[in-house]
Amino acid sequence: MVVADQPDWVPEGLDVTVPNAARVYDCALGGYHNFGVDREFKDLAEKAWPGISQLAYANRAFLGRVVQWLVESGIRQFLDIGSGIPTLGNVHEVAQEIAPESRVVYVDIDPVAVSHSRAILTGNPYADAIQGDLRRPEEILYHPQVLELLDFSQPVAVLMIAVLHFISDDADPPGIVTKIAEPLVSGSYLALSHGTQAGRMSGEQEEVRQLYNRTPTPFFVRSPEQLADALAGLDIVEPGIVAITDWHPDPEEAGEPRQPAALGVVARKP
Ligand SMILES: C[S@@+](CC[C@H](N)C(=O)[O-])C[C@H]1O[C@@H](n2cnc3c(N)ncnc32)[C@H](O)[C@@H]1O
Repeated sequence: MVVADQPDWVPEGLDVTVPNAARVYDCALGGYHNFGVDREFKDLAEKAWPGISQLAYANRAFLGRVVQWLVESGIRQFLDIGSGIPTLGNVHEVAQEIAPESRVVYVDIDPVAVSHSRAILTGNPYADAIQGDLRRPEEILYHPQVLELLDFSQPVAVLMIAVLHFISDDADPPGIVTKIAEPLVSGSYLALSHGTQAGRMSGEQEEVRQLYNRTPTPFFVRSPEQLADALAGLDIVEPGIVAITDWHPDPEEAGEPRQPAALGVVARKP
């Protein structure tokens, strides 16, 4: 269903009556590209998992540290899949501040995320945004705009930050990761963060998960072992598959709560 009288940034035909991952996340980060259903869903999730907004901020901070680490390791090309609605600390901002020649292509399934990414990239010849579905990695890797900006004869870092947990087992996440890693040259990297759950979910959490599973972006938690399986054949860099807040922690964020509900990892193609 499409609702009348929407803000002018809403693409035509967008269904704003079901919560959507990009906009729930935008809401958790204090953004304003979201709708009532997204805010209601975020409030429900906050009740089931208190501190979910802090988790979203911690995930953004993890992304920033990963990009900085990759640039310092010599990477100048980024393919950011499931990039989300632009907010503070976008990949091109972090990378180009250190190395202005860094190239970035943002990819998201959500048209709002893509149109806002394009809008903020106007005038930036080294960054672009395309619509794409991680479940069809070839369409992303061989997309004309990706091939125009990124040189796959040189190392590329593929970022899948807080997105693989929206891919069901039926869609074969390890197979997707393998297809993405396949055309990358040695010295390329894959980085991801992913929701996890050590014990059983509470009744309230299970209810929220069921609710989310009726939206276009169902959510699947996975264990460190499952992530290690998905990254088989790649070299996992130190400190391994850890809570996002434990991955090269920033001493300035030492007072922030630890976030064991999200795992982070960076892996290098040998
Ligand atoms: C939680 S946000 C993460 C945004 C950003 N990567 C970050 O960590 O700050 C997840 C994003 O993944 C996108 N997404 C979900 N399923 C996707 C798919 N199959 N292909 C591409 N993007 C997808 C959503 O639209 C959303 O923007």
